[in-house]
Amino acid sequence: MEPKLIGDPIDRIDGKQKVTGGARYSADIKQPEMAYAVLVMSTIANGTIRDIDTASAEKMPGVLAIMTHKNTPKLPGYDANKPGATALGRVLHLLHDNQVDYSNQPIAMAIADSFEHAVDAANHVRVTYQPKTPAPGLPTSKAEPFRPQKLPRPDDPVDTQRGDLTKAMASAEVSLKQTYTTPTQIHNALEPHTSVAVWEGKQLTIYQATQGIFPSRERIAEYFALPPENVRVIAQFVGGGFGSKGPVWADGVLAAMAAQYVKRPVKLELRRSDMFGMVGSRSATTQQLEIGASRSGDFLGMAHRSLNQTSVFDDFSEPAGILTRVLYKCPSQEVTHRSIRANIGATSPMRAPGEAPGMFALESAIDELAYQLNMDPIALRLKNYAETDQQKELPFSSKSLRECYQQGAERFGWSKRTAAPRSMRDGNILIGMGMATATYPTIRDEASAKIKFNADGTVLLSIGTQDIGTGSYTAMTQLAANAFGISTDLVTLRAGDTRQPKTPVSGGSRTTASAGSAVVQAAEAVILKAKQLALNDLKSPLKGQKESDMVVEKGRLFLKSDPKKGELLTTLLKRNGGNALEASTSSKSGDEKEKYSMYAHGAQFAEVRIDEALGEIRVSKLTGAYAAGRIVNAKTAHSQLVGGIVWGVSMALLEHAIHDPRTNRIMNANLAEYHVPVNADIPDIDAFFVDEKDEIVNPAGVKGIGEIGITGSVAAIANAIYHATGKRIRELPITPDKIMSFTA
Ligand code: MOS
Repeated sequence: MEPKLIGDPIDRIDGKQKVTGGARYSADIKQPEMAYAVLVMSTIANGTIRDIDTASAEKMPGVLAIMTHKNTPKLPGYDANKPGATALGRVLHLLHDNQVDYSNQPIAMAIADSFEHAVDAANHVRVTYQPKTPAPGLPTSKAEPFRPQKLPRPDDPVDTQRGDLTKAMASAEVSLKQTYTTPTQIHNALEPHTSVAVWEGKQLTIYQATQGIFPSRERIAEYFALPPENVRVIAQFVGGGFGSKGPVWADGVLAAMAAQYVKRPVKLELRRSDMFGMVGSRSATTQQLEIGASRSGDFLGMAHRSLNQTSVFDDFSEPAGILTRVLYKCPSQEVTHRSIRANIGATSPMRAPGEAPGMFALESAIDELAYQLNMDPIALRLKNYAETDQQKELPFSSKSLRECYQQGAERFGWSKRTAAPRSMRDGNILIGMGMATATYPTIRDEASAKIKFNADGTVLLSIGTQDIGTGSYTAMTQLAANAFGISTDLVTLRAGDTRQPKTPVSGGSRTTASAGSAVVQAAEAVILKAKQLALNDLKSPLKGQKESDMVVEKGRLFLKSDPKKGELLTTLLKRNGGNALEASTSSKSGDEKEKYSMYAHGAQFAEVRIDEALGEIRVSKLTGAYAAGRIVNAKTAHSQLVGGIVWGVSMALLEHAIHDPRTNRIMNANLAEYHVPVNADIPDIDAFFVDEKDEIVNPAGVKGIGEIGITGSVAAIANAIYHATGKRIRELPITPDKIMSFTA
């Protein structure tokens, strides 16, 4: 069989398992004697629990225990006041005290012999409160904004300044200053957060729906004061995460606490409504954009001042302004981040945290400026094309944004657009075309992998990484197969388990760059061993040759200069006792981050059709051109772009978690009223990759693709809506009521 090559659109290796129901997600795990935990959630957003009456609940059928702050054993390593050290380390509420900081906070847990019994018991827990007035979030908050200590991106300062903004704005011939707002969003992965906790003495195994089995293991071990080796986290399949399964949340710890308390394995599966608060949200933002330009369109000054919301007990500051620092050429600039505190669940990363709301504001503002200048939006962007990262004063490892604009515009049919707003229509239907730039940094963390090449030509790849639905397992398998030039069928993958080599959280679009680089380097280490074996082997045709002169293709080691001279790896191994070659590597970045700025780029185009009488907005066409280094699997990579772009439609037009400003309760904590797009909302999406080769970025040569799709699509749609209607909506989501009046 011809080996499948890197980039080939092969099917997911676990595709069949997934579509036939063979894939076992955390909620599918069953254990002997397993009990079920169901949470009782707070109904106030601020105050204390005066009393919690569990007497009648405890007598319900099948009930094993009701855990509250009154009877829950204290965790030896838990500190409620310890702030999260990273974006993954949120402060958790674990039934240790009677404090209520937000509505829908877990305050008790019913554990029973069936899920139904546990639900019934949870409904019979009676709580009385000493309520206090909750602090509302944006936009109603009256709280004094404060400067966060850090952003959840280690390389990005909270505030930056360059040049002289005041002078630049004074000299600008054309300028704008506008405020853009985005709402609170809840991730709502299809699979709810689920943990099945099993104790065997001091050994804990958790089957968990998580984006990071290793951070989860470390956090849980810390809380229970156990060495990390005593905790095993397994995530074979994860049904979406989008950031909500990135941080370690209370549910996994509570499952382990419950299992310890009732001395049985316990499954805790969140109900949909439980997910609105305790497992994170994308912060609402209020962003002020200021841009000053010359008459010919050169940006002179730019400010991006972003206000976000964070909870009263934790620190997470949505980094909405960070891309404004790098995306365009602009000598004078100011980017700041401020936060207000509110009685809400912890804010946290959601797909392109910072970039998604930030790029909506920035790319809307640039579109507005293009109209003021009477310039084509692409021409304005090209005029201010950044050849270098001006904030860090570094070259880009590669940047193919020009090609994205050009190829995207051509595929979309941008030339058919007439410039004036409200100039394109089809009967009652106003047609609008808009575009925006997309970009996302390439992040890489330390990762390790182990590869065993057997004498029969099969390969065993061991790597911890979870696959959150993106196709990581397939990409890892392809990278390993490709290194030897063999078919992916010959590679067996062991992954999704902390017993395998350590890898980072699958967040920040970093999995292929991090874990994939470890696979590439482990394979290189195996090949090096094969070369050494051959050059020292009297019977090998490669005896006495130099390592650097040999290469591997199609499972065969041969001389680059004389391909006939060589042999199959299997022949070499069989002649040498039939032992496998094995290598483990730990892979991390060198100093490339100090020398280069690394980003994926894209150009996103949208066409909307708006019923002038009804205000109904249909996105009729979406085209996106993206450059992201080497594409390991054209099929799964394309799906990542499409998923991100679909979320752009969702963010632009639909999603809004609505807090009642009096009670701070989320009023639409269900999928009936928290709107996400359905198939009928989504047109055919033409998303494609522009060729880009980057040998600097990492050994796998890849850039992140999980998040970039959302970064341009929101503004592209908002800009298309302006083009169609002449009405600029600076407040997401853009719903029919906001455009009904059609006054420009
Ligand atoms: Mo992502 S929001 O960094 O999991």
